[in-house]
Amino acid sequence: MDKPRFERQDDLSAILGRDCYRLVHLDYSRVAADLAALKGPSFVEARLWGNDAFNARVLMGLDFRKICLQSVLVAQSLPEGGRTPRLCPQPLTVLELETTLLARHARNFHCNSLEFDTGVSEAAWSAFNRTRLEQSLASPEALKFVRDDGLVSFKPEGGKVVIDLLSVLTHRKGTGTALMRRVFDWSLANGAGSVEVMTECENIPAWLFYQKCGFRLTGNIAVFHRHAGDPKQAALALAGRGDFRPKQGSRFVPETEKRAGLFSTQRR
Ligand SMILES: CC(C)(COP(=O)(O)OP(=O)(O)OC[C@H]1O[C@@H](n2cnc3c(N)ncnc32)[C@H](O)[C@@H]1OP(=O)(O)O)[C@@H](O)C(=O)NCCC(=O)NCCS
Repeated sequence: MDKPRFERQDDLSAILGRDCYRLVHLDYSRVAADLAALKGPSFVEARLWGNDAFNARVLMGLDFRKICLQSVLVAQSLPEGGRTPRLCPQPLTVLELETTLLARHARNFHCNSLEFDTGVSEAAWSAFNRTRLEQSLASPEALKFVRDDGLVSFKPEGGKVVIDLLSVLTHRKGTGTALMRRVFDWSLANGAGSVEVMTECENIPAWLFYQKCGFRLTGNIAVFHRHAGDPKQAALALAGRGDFRPKQGSRFVPETEKRAGLFSTQRR
């Protein structure tokens, strides 16, 4: 029997208002015909190992655009020292957040692949962030540690723990580290040998945070998107996002600043 090549993404389809799929199996003999058979406006996401240049070229030849790189980071333990966490007991399974807090956490996520896609509006990727967060909090398979100003959700998966979401509202106060310490303690107590997380390469604060927590890069995943069958969408992609407004303070980085290091590691 044929392996399924596309997996429908129901939540994303509802948010973007067109059929959304993930390409889960790249079959050269069929993929072009499969894509051509998608009727109406469609969105397809594909993921490859970051160094898979051959398949990247195949996808781009089929009108996919490379959107971003996601790093897979792994750590066995959290370095000792730092601030002492306020201990929270067992992780929660289902967590309900008050609406305003939920919205604040949803807005806290930046640099996801939809945000970098000029064919996706800001309203759509914000809605998707919120749905992802709601699903993670409601899922009994994802365990959660929560504090007033932050939360982490994670799943035990075949001898390791995988971080699902981590969000801290008051930055650089040690909350993220405290939450990670709880995750590492839980992993140790439950026989998980390592903790894994995936984050966009563009998310420099998260990268620096995970480095400080002892995580090391094990691989990169390249994310590709393909929009088809919607002339309005194509125009949006060409013109930049329809709802795009430059944020206050956003600018190009001059060469001198690049050389000096873009992100300060000094406490603000
Ligand atoms: C990434 C995140 C969870 C960090 O949480 P935090 O509570 O601010 O982190 P901590 O205060 O424990 O920081 C620990 C160390 O990480 C590094 N770090 C964290 N944020 C940093 C930043 N913005 N710039 C530089 N270094 C940073 C520092 O080395 C810091 O130690 P220091 O403050 O003693 O120098 C938080 O910024 C966040 O919620 N970001 C938005 C959501 C997100 O990106 N989640 C991760 C996606 S997988």
